Amino acid sequence: MNRRLFLVSAGTTGLVAVAGMSAFSLTRTPTAALAPWTEAGADRGDPRRFVVAHAVLAPNPHNRQPWIVELTRPLTMTLWCDLDRRLPHTDPFDRQIVIGLGCFTEIASLAAGAIGYRLDVAAFPEGEPQPRLDRRPVAHLTLVRDEAARPDPLFGQIKARRSTKRPFDMAKPVPVSALAQLQALSGPLAAVAALTAPDAVARVRALAWEAWEIEAKTARTHQESVDLMRIGRREIEANPDGISLGGPFLEGLSLIGQLSRAQLADPASSAYRMGADMYRAMLAATPAYCMVVAPDESRAGQFAAGRAYLRANLAAAAAGLSLHPVSQALQEFPEMAGVKARLEAALGIAAPNRLHMLARLGYGPAVPQTPRWAASTRIRTA
Ligand SMILES: Cc1cc2nc3c(=O)[nH]c(=O)nc-3n(C[C@H](O)[C@H](O)[C@H](O)COP(=O)(O)O)c2cc1C
Repeated sequence: MNRRLFLVSAGTTGLVAVAGMSAFSLTRTPTAALAPWTEAGADRGDPRRFVVAHAVLAPNPHNRQPWIVELTRPLTMTLWCDLDRRLPHTDPFDRQIVIGLGCFTEIASLAAGAIGYRLDVAAFPEGEPQPRLDRRPVAHLTLVRDEAARPDPLFGQIKARRSTKRPFDMAKPVPVSALAQLQALSGPLAAVAALTAPDAVARVRALAWEAWEIEAKTARTHQESVDLMRIGRREIEANPDGISLGGPFLEGLSLIGQLSRAQLADPASSAYRMGADMYRAMLAATPAYCMVVAPDESRAGQFAAGRAYLRANLAAAAAGLSLHPVSQALQEFPEMAGVKARLEAALGIAAPNRLHMLARLGYGPAVPQTPRWAASTRIRTA
């Protein structure tokens, strides 16, 4: 929700109340929830903890942070999915969750390289769980001392990376050099591509909005997001995951009764309508898209797509560009099937190939970091 839209909905009384809260404003940053961004890299004692402290900064669906890392032997780890952190309505086959775990692993690999190790990754070492994840490990991760390991320049972008959920500058096209850089990140299990042709971008923008509306108007899928909204500092600090609606302005609105989970769940409320207006404007301000496509439906392809997307996100940050995933049209719940099929047709993607990431690409404003659970809370010792 942005400030302008809520200025409209809050009314004069609300405005005065919110404007008078400057002292209150100074105390609204969820300091503990943002601490993992500064803590990463501070402790170089155990290379596994160094790697995990960076990896928890990975993008992941609804910021659920579904990772658990078990430290097994001095240089080995097992990556598990926390099965309680999945999104059963919008991600019924845990596809997006696996992509997030792939993003996590790619950051782990970059962090390993920064301290002279190579990260050997064995994905789904006990077989691929289908149709949903189960208690089998997602990956075995082994750090191997490597004299040839050199820090990858993308390592330096880990803390600068964002999912920029804002309108992009429509007057500033994405340069051809940046598109080529993104496409060069393609590997055998995941191709990275960019879409810039104005007609094609316009078609995808329309489908992205149609998909957003379907998710928002389908009660159970919308409720899944609403349940994960953290409103204000106290809620964000208590649960530094999900969708954080923080900052003095939104917290002020919540205090004066203008913003609550119940209102956001109710399509008749002004909070819901304002949110929809904001999203429509944001999706319209999209000059290009970045896509990640796998050659099949396998878990290995989903995992590789996450690794490739993470590199694209970092490469975009290095080029001063923003990325923002828009996943609604890719989702597998039945109400989305028609839009999903039309999107794949518009992009010329046919089975067995699978579109795994669709992200808005362009020049966006600087945005703050999102909350994280401390890395230590995601680590188990064997
Ligand atoms: C597989 C995947 C799907 C995502 N889908 C969406 C989406 O549909 N809409 C959105 O706003 N963000 C989406 N995101 C971005 C997450 O919301 C974001 O990574 C998370 O909130 C953490 O924020 P950060 O990336 O800025 O650190 C997605 C991320 C991943 C990895």
